[in-house]
Amino acid sequence: MKCKITNKMINPFMSFGKMPIANGFINKDQFSEEFFFEMQVGFNEEISLFQLNDHPKPEKMFNNNYPFFTSSSDYMKNHFRDYSMFVKKFIKPDSNIVEIGSNDGTFLKNFVNDKNKIIGFEPSQNVAEIAKKNKIPTLNEFFNKKSVENLNDFLNKTDLICASNVICHIPNLTELIESVDMLLSKNGTFVFEEPYLGSMFEKVSYDQIYDEHIYMFSASSVSKIFKIFNFALVDVIPQPTHGGSLRYIIKRKGNEVSSNVSKIIEYETKIGLDKLSSCLNFKIQCEESKKKILNKINSYKKNGKSICGYAATSKSTTILNYCNINSNHIDYICDTTKEKIGKFSPGMHIPIKDMDYFHKNQTDCVYLFAWNHKKEIFNKEKYFKGEWFSHVEL
Ligand code: TYD
Repeated sequence: MKCKITNKMINPFMSFGKMPIANGFINKDQFSEEFFFEMQVGFNEEISLFQLNDHPKPEKMFNNNYPFFTSSSDYMKNHFRDYSMFVKKFIKPDSNIVEIGSNDGTFLKNFVNDKNKIIGFEPSQNVAEIAKKNKIPTLNEFFNKKSVENLNDFLNKTDLICASNVICHIPNLTELIESVDMLLSKNGTFVFEEPYLGSMFEKVSYDQIYDEHIYMFSASSVSKIFKIFNFALVDVIPQPTHGGSLRYIIKRKGNEVSSNVSKIIEYETKIGLDKLSSCLNFKIQCEESKKKILNKINSYKKNGKSICGYAATSKSTTILNYCNINSNHIDYICDTTKEKIGKFSPGMHIPIKDMDYFHKNQTDCVYLFAWNHKKEIFNKEKYFKGEWFSHVEL
């Protein structure tokens, strides 16, 4: 495979096998035409970048049926409110603000009452419509050179560009950074948050790898990539979201750099996060994790225990398909998203049910697929008396 930034050939170090679209929840009559791709991952040591080899075209994933809504978690709503407070230091009362992948407008909502001009880019039509209904200026388009080139009010005049859990979705990082460059003012700031490679290795949460997550970033990789384009990573702040993320603050070269940057990069060098060898170790841990979870599920079944899944996350698609866990193991997966309910999970075709069904048909054990929302979910389900489990520590 070719590195998407440097064009250098890199060998995939691991395959997770055939994978469907992670958010491709389907009806029975679509089973026979389901799309699969081989999910392999590779690592470019030159820029310390962990990346997917092949991946479906973005249009296959982010379309008018995209079933992910930021507002589905109260915790995330609070997180975005705090995030909006954090970035206020980078703007003036009349600054222009852009969000890449603005989803249902949960983040930008925090700026609509101000004098700032705002634009959200959201390619998934159904989610963009919700944002527009809530009066959040939204362009139903991918963020790229073509979609920004005519935004005269914003070209070189945008003081803040934000993104959350979306930069890793964009295959052409070169064009992304060039588009950011077109918009950003001289002292402008680009802030983005992404799941952290270090947390994924530490927790062996390989379910962070799926079609939409083309890259898994670290401070080392972000710093090296942006340097190529005359930008600098000026600060980096760990976040608890998605089981461990980093918030990256990028400015044009020549700005003051916080000591947080060198501290995290030194730490990453110490644990080998910038080396292929840590990926090879991760591969072994994924294989062990698969054996462990299958042993656990098989032993529940041997003892006559029933199992359901909680939250039909995108992440669960990787677990279910890599471990070959199907409806013989798990009776159903409950979820709050109306677009998923009544459909079947991608690849393994486990039925998706609503929360009412879960409360009326409780199983002995529950596989928590949204382990990153554990606190919020345990709080909601404190009357469930069975056993929670997951492939990561709960
Ligand atoms: P999340 O871990 O944020 O997403 P993903 O892995 O898909 O990126 O989980 C979002 C999914 O979890 C979404 O389908 C809604 C579901 N969910 C529930 O069903 N109940 C809950 O309490 C929470 C927090 C999420």
